[in-house]
Amino acid sequence: PAKLPLSVLRPPVLVGREREWARMEEAWAEGKTIFLSGEPGVGKTRLAHDFAASRGVHMVLESRPGETHVAYSTHVRLLRQIMARCPDTTLAPWVRRELSRLMPDMAGTEGPPPPMVDEAERSRFLEANCLAIYQLCAGMDAIVADDLQYMDAATAEFALLMLSRRHDIPSDGVFPRFVDTYRRGELTPIAAACIQQLVEAGLAVVIELEPLHSEAVGTLLGSLELAGAEGLADNVMRYTGGNPLFIMEALRHLLESGGLERGWPEHVHPSGRGRDLIQRRLERLSAPALQVARLAALAKTSFALELASEVLEMTPMSLATHLSELEAAHVLRGERFTHDLLFDVVREAIPPSLVPLLHRRLASALEQRKAAPVVVAQHWLEGKEPQRAAPFLVAAANAEASAFRHMEAALLYYRAATALEEAGALDEAARVRARARGIPSA
Ligand SMILES: Nc1ncnc2c1ncn2[C@@H]1O[C@H](COP(=O)(O)OP(=O)(O)OP(=O)(O)O)[C@@H](O)[C@H]1O
Ligand SMILES: [Mg+2]
Repeated sequence: PAKLPLSVLRPPVLVGREREWARMEEAWAEGKTIFLSGEPGVGKTRLAHDFAASRGVHMVLESRPGETHVAYSTHVRLLRQIMARCPDTTLAPWVRRELSRLMPDMAGTEGPPPPMVDEAERSRFLEANCLAIYQLCAGMDAIVADDLQYMDAATAEFALLMLSRRHDIPSDGVFPRFVDTYRRGELTPIAAACIQQLVEAGLAVVIELEPLHSEAVGTLLGSLELAGAEGLADNVMRYTGGNPLFIMEALRHLLESGGLERGWPEHVHPSGRGRDLIQRRLERLSAPALQVARLAALAKTSFALELASEVLEMTPMSLATHLSELEAAHVLRGERFTHDLLFDVVREAIPPSLVPLLHRRLASALEQRKAAPVVVAQHWLEGKEPQRAAPFLVAAANAEASAFRHMEAALLYYRAATALEEAGALDEAARVRARARGIPSA
């Protein structure tokens, strides 16, 4: 692959987050923990990181996939990471001994303590963990805890305790503030409840990140110092919906496949992390909602509630429910996909055997509704029924011919002829071809 400029690996400037930044400043001044939530790739990590970096000494810690179901797995990994940063810190012996319940290698000569038997012992254990963190992090200004959606429940409860008690720390002010991120809708119920409690106690704020507005997308493209990038703002917005991860992936893909000077291609093949993320988002939809999304991808601009309810044999009531699910998941906005990348991924993932079937059902529903003949024809063609497409192509060609659009008319006659040949109607195909040839200057 072509060597990519550094700017597309990481945009040099943080764009379009002025409002969020101001809210973060405010929360910071009030000593609150900041939670950033939003869809995958929207820019949570970037904003959290840039903000933390602007505060002084900081550290980024992340939860990882796979930790969700193993008690204290996130906590132990992060604690080790923090300890590695300041290996000379001496923890009080009783604190060390409590920590050895989770990290046996921390036990001194007397070995780890016996298993806990009551609530008092559990409190002591949690207290020790809090103290260890307070002590180890004392020199830091900010800590980013990234991707809380992967955090295990025991760690989440511990974090709640730690964050809600921080006001009791005598040395408050040296203890770092936390900027935490998670993917919207992906938190475990326990983690969600912990965050809720912090917010209700006035100790935290949740800031929802939305995709970038078109103006910020323009600024982003301009900041990359790539020839031809700035002129792509409208296309980039339409294709990605303003999601910075998708934007950067699309740009990298275009650069690797030949540069931006030639403008935006007809079709950008969805690839990389963006594609995987969207696929996983689609997997979380209910089966009927996914079915509706698939139909929308095939019907394109013809997609409408009534049409969908007929083609999918769903009552308008249940269809409305599925549509609101799709809206809540930011897949559709009204009757449209929120951006073209989503559309492409949905379209590509439709089981091949289902595609012609849905096209045929769309074709006959649109035929009844007297939709534009070219549209009906296209669905018959994709439904692998060329003989049914032909009359619509001819009708469309006639209409073009009578409006003196000769070029368009001739092309449609040729398409009709090809369809007829495919269907084995050779004589008729020859007649239609002759009509195309009979058109002036075609
Ligand atoms: N406001 C912004 N200005 C410039 N670049 C940005 C902005 N937001 C995000 N980016 C860039 O877009 C890419 C994706 O952002 P980031 O990794 O922060 O998304 P995320 O929301 O954390 O995604 P995930 O849910 O996968 O963790 C990164 O390369 C990041 O530098
Ligand atoms: Mg992230």
